[in-house]
Amino acid sequence: MSVTATTPAETAAAAADAAHFLSATAMRGGYGKADILHGCTLNVDKGQIAVIVGPNGAGKSTAMKAVFGMLPLREGRVTLDGEDITGLSPQDRVRKGMGFVPQVHNVFPSMTVEENLEMGAFIRTGDIAATMEQVYELFPILRTKRRQPAGELSGGQRQQVAVGRALMTRPRLLMLDEPTAGVSPIVMDELFDRIIEIARSGISILMVEQNARQALEIADIGYVLVQGTNRYTDTGAALMADPEVRRTFLGG
Ligand SMILES: Nc1ncnc2c1ncn2[C@@H]1O[C@H](COP(=O)(O)OP(=O)(O)OP(=O)(O)O)[C@@H](O)[C@H]1O
Ligand SMILES: [Mg+2]
Repeated sequence: MSVTATTPAETAAAAADAAHFLSATAMRGGYGKADILHGCTLNVDKGQIAVIVGPNGAGKSTAMKAVFGMLPLREGRVTLDGEDITGLSPQDRVRKGMGFVPQVHNVFPSMTVEENLEMGAFIRTGDIAATMEQVYELFPILRTKRRQPAGELSGGQRQQVAVGRALMTRPRLLMLDEPTAGVSPIVMDELFDRIIEIARSGISILMVEQNARQALEIADIGYVLVQGTNRYTDTGAALMADPEVRRTFLGG
């Protein structure tokens, strides 16, 4: 633990953060002078699937970038496995066990599938063959297509490359920003099944999803984000059952 708490309030805050595997607390920040996040809090426990939903422009991607260290926070803090990582660069967060698949530009289109996976392993020093094998077992189509440029793959297959690339660092927390964007319902279901499989292997998942109903169905915990703040937080099942949440955010 690198958390050094001094006052009783700080001790309590540190204890609360340490109770979760990922704890991103009261994040405030944005682009330039404007704040997009106004005290947004996200917690994920070990092996949990946490899902963020909310309207376009709510700040979901911004919150993901903040958790990953791509957006400097003006307030708030991020801890992973009890360790305060608020000041760390994205690269150092990867070393601590975070993997991130951004919403856009998440593969190198001119590189082959296998080269993309190799790029994903950039922080690794040891043998990456076993991890690559695991990725191919999870996504068999990628083995078949391993010599093809990622840009020639279908949308769903490209998303598999992006997820596989993030898995190459053997993350303990996998962050996915709209992994099912632009794919068919069947491909979406398949991807969600793989995400469940990843979580069952002990990797925590923090995921933004546009397909809110389907994502909340597999969520241990769901966050409804509106204008950079938490509007609702509950289990996926409870959010799905809440008439107000259904009416306002899930289309009835
Ligand atoms: N790089 C940027 N520079 C300035 N403003 C930005 C930048 N990225 C996003 N924004 C603004 O921040 C707000 C939140 O955007 P963000 O991408 O986080 O929303 P989102 O919830 O992920 O939306 P979507 O569902 O469309 O992906 C929006 O008003 C957006 O215009
Ligand atoms: Mg987004």
